[in-house]
Parts: sequence; structure tokens; C-alpha cells
Amino acid sequence: MKRVLITGGSGLLGSAVAMQAVRDYETFLTYYTYPFRVPGAAGIIQADLADRGVFRGLIDGVQPEAIIHTAAFTNVDGCEVDRAQAERSNVVAVQLIAEEVAKIGARLIFISTDYVFDGKKSYYTEEDAVNPLSYYAETKVRAEEIIRSTCQSYCIVRTSLYGWNAQDKLSFSEWVIAGVSAGKKTPLFIDQYYSPILTNNLADALLELAAGRYTGTLHVTGAQRCSRFEVAECICDVFSLDKTCLSPVSRTSFRGPAARPADSSLSVSKARLILKTPLPDLQESITEMKRLQDEGYPALVKSYCIQEGIVQQ
Ligand SMILES: NC(=O)c1ccc[n+]([C@@H]2O[C@H](COP(=O)([O-])OP(=O)(O)OC[C@H]3O[C@@H](n4cnc5c(N)ncnc54)[C@H](OP(=O)(O)O)[C@@H]3O)[C@@H](O)[C@H]2O)c1
Repeated sequence: MKRVLITGGSGLLGSAVAMQAVRDYETFLTYYTYPFRVPGAAGIIQADLADRGVFRGLIDGVQPEAIIHTAAFTNVDGCEVDRAQAERSNVVAVQLIAEEVAKIGARLIFISTDYVFDGKKSYYTEEDAVNPLSYYAETKVRAEEIIRSTCQSYCIVRTSLYGWNAQDKLSFSEWVIAGVSAGKKTPLFIDQYYSPILTNNLADALLELAAGRYTGTLHVTGAQRCSRFEVAECICDVFSLDKTCLSPVSRTSFRGPAARPADSSLSVSKARLILKTPLPDLQESITEMKRLQDEGYPALVKSYCIQEGIVQQ
């Protein structure tokens, strides 16, 4: 693979993939609202991916060998409320992308979610049956089906992630760091389990998959099942923050518009057979997140993102 197109380049995951991809590949990236001007990119393109004409023009112009499709309407509660937008960004866009990718014989890496499962067991494998509890997860399941029936060379990557945002918004890990650093009492679920991965670790795996040949579904997450509270404890340990700010609460104390699985931890046994990229445990990947902070990554990634017409440099 020489030329890669990354959709959602301004997102939490897409920005990390773009930062990594420009080192080795001719990299094109798309954004919807916030331009992400990473140095070394061959093209940075504004695109509404649910518009057939726009995406066809993009593919004709770029002619990528692989597309890493990270763009989506990712707000789980937002998708429950605005189903039309969820349908547009998460299903219609995928249909268009899959058709165009199949036409030019490119490879598609699609980012799905651990929320496709109902949370009744632990460490779900690729063979387990999906049973989405939310509209967001339902759109992802339908997108997966479209890709399986349309594309020849693809990988559907189910994951759960955290990391440093390019945009001025907080991922779960940034929210914990910001809250505890400000001395705020920070409520965290002790009974919602998952196995998240740092975006930068996931970026390496996605680029390996894009350059590789594996076709099918793959669970690419952190190796360890943990509760939200345990993740926050680990963040406090590694970032030397005051753990007494963490307040253990039950998921049953929170009622949002969308239901979420009680346990969406994924098995990475298959991914470990296929990937050379290591899938670290929680302590290792939070330590990597801290190392990135120490070398100035959060400020750097933000400096490439333009918000409300102002270049943050
Ligand atoms: N975050 C998680 O915990 C998590 C867990 C499991 C799976 N995932 C999946 O991982 C992927 C990346 O998630 P993320 O957290 O990095 O997302 P994010 O930060 O919300 O970024 C979403 C990206 O999609 C773009 N986008 C949204 N609608 C679009 C449209 N109609 N046309 C073109 N671009 C559009 C956004 O552009 P602008 O911002 O420029 O408008 C942004 O670049 C998603 O597929 C998500 O479903 C995420």
C-alpha cells in the first residue's frame, strides 16, 4: 500500500491514524466540520460522506489503494434522538463508500463498535451473535452487513477507544484527567465493563490491516477487561492524580436516552494471531498515553485542528 485515504481525519481516532500514516504513506484525509491540517498529508478534503457525488469525486481524484473509514456520528445518545442523522452518517455513507470501494477494487477498513453486543457475557469473540441495544449500535451492525455483502477486500474492526483529541472536546480519559486535576468529584461506573485501546495503538493496527490481506471481522481492543472506575484508577496512578476524587457509582444510577451493554469486553485472541502490532494491557497503554503527553502530543495534535475559523497555533 502506498496511498491511503482516512475518513474522519478530524476525529479522536482519525487524527491519530493520520498522524501515524503521514510517516509512511501518501495520506489523504477527510473532515466534515473541522479541518485537521497535519503536516505531510498529500490532501485534506472537506466532504459530507453521505453525499454520493462528493464521495465519487473524492475516490476518482484520490484513487486510494486502501480506505480507513473512521468517520461516523458517534454520540450514542445523540443517535438515539436524531435517528435520521445516525442513518445518514452511519449507514447511507457506508453504503456509498462500500459501492465505490468495490468498483475500484480498493481495500476498506471499517471501524465498528463493541456496542454491537448485548453485554450478557465477557470477552466476546468474532463468532458471537450481535444484539445491539442502541440505535447507534444498530446502525453499525447494518453497516457491517453492507460491507460484507458489497466489498471483496475489507476488515471490519470492532473496538472501544480512548486518547487525546485534536478537537476541543474531551474523550473519557481526558474527562477523567481534567476533572480529577481540577479536584472535582468524578463519578465512575463500577459495573460497566469494556476493554478499551489507546487511539495511537489502534492506529498502528489499522495501518497494518490496511496494508495486509486479512478479510473479515476482527476485534482490536485492549487486552484487558475493566470497569470505567478501574480505568480511571489506572489513569490516576499513571498520571499521579488524586484517586480520592473518583466516586464509584452504579450504571443503574444513570438513565440516558440510549441503553448500553453492561459488559462489552472483546476477546483479542484472533487479532493476536493476525497482527504484528501488540495489543497492550491497560497499564501499558495508559503509560503510553502519559508518554505522549510528556512529549507534547496533545498540544501538537490540537495545533493542527482549526475550530470556528481560528487556527490554534
Ligand atoms: N469513541 C469511542 O469510544 C468509540 C468506541 C467504539 C467505536 N468507535 C468508532 O470509532 C470511529 C471513530 O470514533 P471517534 O470517537 O474518533 O469519532 P469522533 O471523534 O466523533 O469523530 C467522528 C469523525 O467523523 C466525521 N463525520 C461525522 N459525520 C460525518 C459525515 N456525514 N461526513 C463526513 N464526516 C463525518 C467528523 O468530522 P468533523 O468532526 O470534522 O465534523 C469526525 O472527523 C467511529 O466509527 C466510531 O463509531 C468509537
